[in-house]
Amino acid sequence: MATPHIESKLEDIAPVVLMPGDPLRAKYIAENYLEDAKLINTVRNMFGYTGTYKGKRVTVFASGMGIPSIGIYSYELYKFYNVEQIIRIGTCGSFNENIKILDVILSSGAYCKSYFDELLDGVDIDFIQSSYELNRKIINKAKERNIELKYGKTITSDVFDLYCDDKDKFRKNYPDKEFLGVEMEAFGLFYIAKKLEKEASCLMTVVDSLYDKRNLTSEERQTSLDNMIEMALESII
Ligand code: HPA
Repeated sequence: MATPHIESKLEDIAPVVLMPGDPLRAKYIAENYLEDAKLINTVRNMFGYTGTYKGKRVTVFASGMGIPSIGIYSYELYKFYNVEQIIRIGTCGSFNENIKILDVILSSGAYCKSYFDELLDGVDIDFIQSSYELNRKIINKAKERNIELKYGKTITSDVFDLYCDDKDKFRKNYPDKEFLGVEMEAFGLFYIAKKLEKEASCLMTVVDSLYDKRNLTSEERQTSLDNMIEMALESII
């Protein structure tokens, strides 16, 4: 059993997947949080590992960057490997006044101007919700652990917004003041999950903000990322 992008055997992949963008972050999670972690995919260096967390079998599989990449991996995992739940754990930027650097955001749904849905299914959808049930579990775990979670709508963009010459013009595409953060994958994941009747959530750590220009120490960054990883892992056991 293999797909064009995943070499794993069917039994190598757990029904629950944590999905960072960066393959080396998948390795970090496997090495620091999982027991008996086994490397189960190396195609294109898009590392996947399966192990156990507090006795629960879990796969950590990288998505790469952007909707096309997460679209491929989430589709193949849900459709061919019987994956039921994917939690993306990523980073984002923000131009919302109420969001600070290192806040952790849980996306209630992603707004997106991408052509992805049109090309895949001939539909034109701008906003897609994440999975309410899975979000509830994550919110409850955050409460239990006293970790503040910002829960609300986010933006998925096909461009890395910081590289736009006219950032104000970019931001005017998204006039809704409620949007908490901007990243490049959640819409693709939520769309594929909905299409295949599966569950998906997205946690993200804010790594840059229009309103909060603090310089972070690498320790601060790591603590925030670790909080997010633990919250995701705790919510699936
Ligand atoms: N991803 C991660 N960090 C960011 C982004 C993004 O799309 N935009 C601004 N900071």
